[in-house]
Amino acid sequence: IIHKATVSAPTNIACIKYWGKADSHYNTPINDSLSLTLDQSDLRAVTSASASLAFDKDRLWLNGSEEVGAASSRRFRACVDGVRALATEKIDPDTKEVIVSKDDWKKMHVYIASYNTFPTAAGLASSAAGYAALVAALVELFGAKESYPGEFTAIARQGSGSACRSLYGGFVAWRAGGEKSDWSDSIAEQVADEAHWGEVRAVICVVSDAKKETSSTAGMSTSVATSELLAFRAKEVVSKRMKIIEEAIKAKDFEAFGKVTMMDSNQFHATCLDTYPPIFYMNDVSRSIVQLVHRYNDWAGEIRAAYTFDAGPNAVLYTLDKHVIELLALVLKYYPCESEDLMGDYVNNKDMVS
Ligand code: DP6
Repeated sequence: IIHKATVSAPTNIACIKYWGKADSHYNTPINDSLSLTLDQSDLRAVTSASASLAFDKDRLWLNGSEEVGAASSRRFRACVDGVRALATEKIDPDTKEVIVSKDDWKKMHVYIASYNTFPTAAGLASSAAGYAALVAALVELFGAKESYPGEFTAIARQGSGSACRSLYGGFVAWRAGGEKSDWSDSIAEQVADEAHWGEVRAVICVVSDAKKETSSTAGMSTSVATSELLAFRAKEVVSKRMKIIEEAIKAKDFEAFGKVTMMDSNQFHATCLDTYPPIFYMNDVSRSIVQLVHRYNDWAGEIRAAYTFDAGPNAVLYTLDKHVIELLALVLKYYPCESEDLMGDYVNNKDMVS
């Protein structure tokens, strides 16, 4: 018998960035962060998790090809073993008989197959969607129950930090934690749900879909070791910005939300430059998008769009529904996409810009 569950999880894009680990074993951050879950977008991971006594070992397939040895990686083990520890017995809904006991789950191996619907490792937070989908699929498979709120996010965080924020929709904060010795307080929590400020849109500008040169994990470790600016940011800056952005979200104040989002992206990339040797994630096109957004906002006399960049050159532009067409027109004027009628697609299918 094979037990199986399939789920999908969206990516999330941070407005207040996570950069730097406080504890590399538990994979916990040096500061809080906050993101939007892009739950209407195509940027998702779809994951099937199966368990059976007939499987001889744990195996993982990514986009159709097997990742040999990946099932023994610490990140993968933390997710599988973490969720399995919270498994409940599986009951037949008709006969009320126990089909799988908690002990049976422990004896089974798992097969995991995951698909990304977007370029992997191009700085579009694919690991966030990937590990969130892995944890969500395992929760479904094992019928797992949390022993405290946020426990699943603490497990996903050990897969990839940013993944903990993708388990919830809407605006999600990841509280750094650290009061508890086992870091069980380093969890994600919803600040506002997806219905709260439904006018917010994200326009993803793919500047390059090449794999990034410096992985987030490696980059942030060098930054923690060498950047004094990063230490200052974690100690003095982020907590103030978390307050500002959480208030802006609650009040639906795009002016305040957009400004702090842009400033935090800029500071994150400044800490990358302050890292020794420096890390360059943004390129000339990224920087020209920054200038375009500022010129647009200056022309409008208000903040209508806010850019943010993760560990890669691609821009995510946050805006409001009422400005999307104007923003797309502007972006497509300066960066024409030859093969695609993005504007027409948007008018016909609003879901494509999440
Ligand atoms: C720039 O979550 O990919 O996107 O925990 O090592 O897997 P690991 O790092 P990861 O880092 C994401 C960094 C970021 C900012 C953010 O999403 O907050």
